[in-house]
Amino acid sequence: MSEFKENDKIKFAVVGCGHIGKRHATMIFNNNESELVALCDVKPKEELGLEPFGDTPFFSSIEELLARDLAFDVVNICTPNGLHSDQAVLALDASKHLVVEKPIGLSKAKCEGVIYKALRNHKQVFAVMQNRYSPPSVWLKDIVENKIIGDTFMVQVNCYWNRDDRYYKKGGWKGVQNLDGGTLFTQFSHFIDIMYWLFGDVKNIKGKFGDFTHKDSTDFEDSGFVSFDFLDGGMGSLNYSTAVWGQNLESSITIIGSKGSVKVGGQYMNEVEYCHIDGYEMPELAESNPPNDYGQYKGSAANHHYIIENVVDTLKGRTRATTNALEGLKVVDIIERIYAVRDEEGY
Ligand SMILES: NC(=O)c1ccc[n+]([C@@H]2O[C@H](COP(=O)([O-])OP(=O)(O)OC[C@H]3O[C@@H](n4cnc5c(N)ncnc54)[C@H](O)[C@@H]3O)[C@@H](O)[C@H]2O)c1
Repeated sequence: MSEFKENDKIKFAVVGCGHIGKRHATMIFNNNESELVALCDVKPKEELGLEPFGDTPFFSSIEELLARDLAFDVVNICTPNGLHSDQAVLALDASKHLVVEKPIGLSKAKCEGVIYKALRNHKQVFAVMQNRYSPPSVWLKDIVENKIIGDTFMVQVNCYWNRDDRYYKKGGWKGVQNLDGGTLFTQFSHFIDIMYWLFGDVKNIKGKFGDFTHKDSTDFEDSGFVSFDFLDGGMGSLNYSTAVWGQNLESSITIIGSKGSVKVGGQYMNEVEYCHIDGYEMPELAESNPPNDYGQYKGSAANHHYIIENVVDTLKGRTRATTNALEGLKVVDIIERIYAVRDEEGY
């Protein structure tokens, strides 16, 4: 039984009002069954471009927001990566449901802390993995889950993007180890999520890592070749780099199955480039949404309205969370294990 009635508006507070926080706020604003009741950021309100949200109450810290006698149901955490899990625990302690931007935390242990609190307090945690809504992702899920492509032999994920000094600004959180976490957390966790969603967990991780163009701008590697086996059969590789000159090259997934092969590419895994499967005709897919726009930096799919719809529908008992906290944790766990290999390599 849902705690909400069919006609209730779900009340949201957004913590962190940068690029993505404003996108959450806009999507809440535009959803008929939602209400934006508070915004929160450590920066002064005037610097944040919050004019579209009128006189929505603004708070300077999550502690202040939670201490006030303001009625709301959901906290959307849109702050730098390294703050997510601790802020999530604070919000769960205040009996709020949560939408947490990726990643839920920067370690499996931190994510476990969030899940423990959520279970204890009977609250929902929605992880933001909006690329799952892209039509090619939905199609891949169908052909893999229903074995249309047969057994999995090989999966190759390539993530080749450009992130240079125009992106890593001095004094920002991106590139800083304890706030960003690394290239796989900030740039490529959506693609690891798609791989995990389709093929499940991995083992026998091996890797080779390098830092070609980010020695002065980030605390971590910018590139890697990683290989592994899937627990459910088949082997995979993840090749990634943010050292691509000039602009993004691609994010792609190639799947070799026992009944055929497919490749989905484009800048953010948004275009079916190849499909050849025994006795199968490729259906017409809906157009993908454009990527999130960070000036010259195109990012992952601009599908955040689906996230807010999914929160409303789940809290009203109509459906289930598209990406639950355990799935959010598994992506963090896989990245943490890849980075353990990187650290062992003495990179
Ligand atoms: N789902 C996606 O496709 C997607 C895309 C981009 C970013 N993100 C994620 O969204 C999060 C934010 O990224 P962004 O690009 O919007 O960054 P951003 O720097 O534009 O915004 C972060 C905001 O958080 C604020 N902040 C910092 N510390 C705070 C605190 N203690 N309490 C409240 N506010 C605080 C900052 O002042 C800033 O306004 C990151 O976790 C990032 O990984 C997700």
